[in-house]
Amino acid sequence: MIEITHLKKSFQGQRVLEDICLKLEKNKTYALLGPSGSGKSTLLRCINLLETPDSGIMKMQDLVIDFAKIPKRDLQKVRKKVGMVFQNYNLFANKTALENITQSLISVHKYSKAEAEKIGFEYLDMVGLRERAGHYPSMLSGGQQQRIGIARALAFNPEILLFDEPTSSLDPELVEEVLNVIKMIKDKTMILVTHELNFARKIANEVLFMSEGKILEQSPPETFFNAPKTDRAKLFLEKFHRAI
Ligand SMILES: Nc1ncnc2c1ncn2[C@@H]1O[C@H](COP(=O)(O)OP(=O)(O)OP(=O)(O)O)[C@@H](O)[C@H]1O
Ligand SMILES: [Mg+2]
Repeated sequence: MIEITHLKKSFQGQRVLEDICLKLEKNKTYALLGPSGSGKSTLLRCINLLETPDSGIMKMQDLVIDFAKIPKRDLQKVRKKVGMVFQNYNLFANKTALENITQSLISVHKYSKAEAEKIGFEYLDMVGLRERAGHYPSMLSGGQQQRIGIARALAFNPEILLFDEPTSSLDPELVEEVLNVIKMIKDKTMILVTHELNFARKIANEVLFMSEGKILEQSPPETFFNAPKTDRAKLFLEKFHRAI
């Protein structure tokens, strides 16, 4: 289980995350939903310490992080436990698909090149791209690049996997292939930020609804989508239904 208590984050004096308390149970999928600017990306970036929260505590297995003072070695430990999939894939342009996966396995996780490549091919198989191992990102479609991004994030067997709008840069016809890969992921604690609400509804065990830096609701998808508790969530869902 991963537990976050009283996480606060401001940018230039403006509070962006108010007082986040969150328990993430092992191997559950959480859909993190909310209007633009509500703090979803910032929360994910705080969990993998791409942003440093101002205060709060995070417990991840044996590791206890006090956000107010994070020793450098703990920063590394957190990064080794958290996988992240970005909206714009964030692949290294000058590395092949396989190298994109093996790079951190070798440099951060200290696998030998041979071991890293064995794992790399395993995950290329999982995302259906073994035959593209030697391709550079510019030679791959957006959907293929994101599948490499997912393979890279899974390859080091992270404790938790964070997705920040993994399909929102994709042409509509490429969204499905990426969602299908996400659907295949088993036995992993995941937080998924997405505007694909139908997908979120199908795969999430729990919905977290954020607004203005706070988690306003946490409930199973059926409850959230059929009977949201707050007016803010009702408005959010109405807008979505009007849009489709
Ligand atoms: N590096 C930063 N410096 C200053 N303000 C920031 C920074 N990053 C985010 N913010 C602000 O924090 C708030 C939350 O932003 P965040 O990107 O977390 O929202 P979001 O819920 O992910 O929105 P979207 O759905 O549009 O991606 C916004 O008001 C944003 O302008
Ligand atoms: Mg965002």
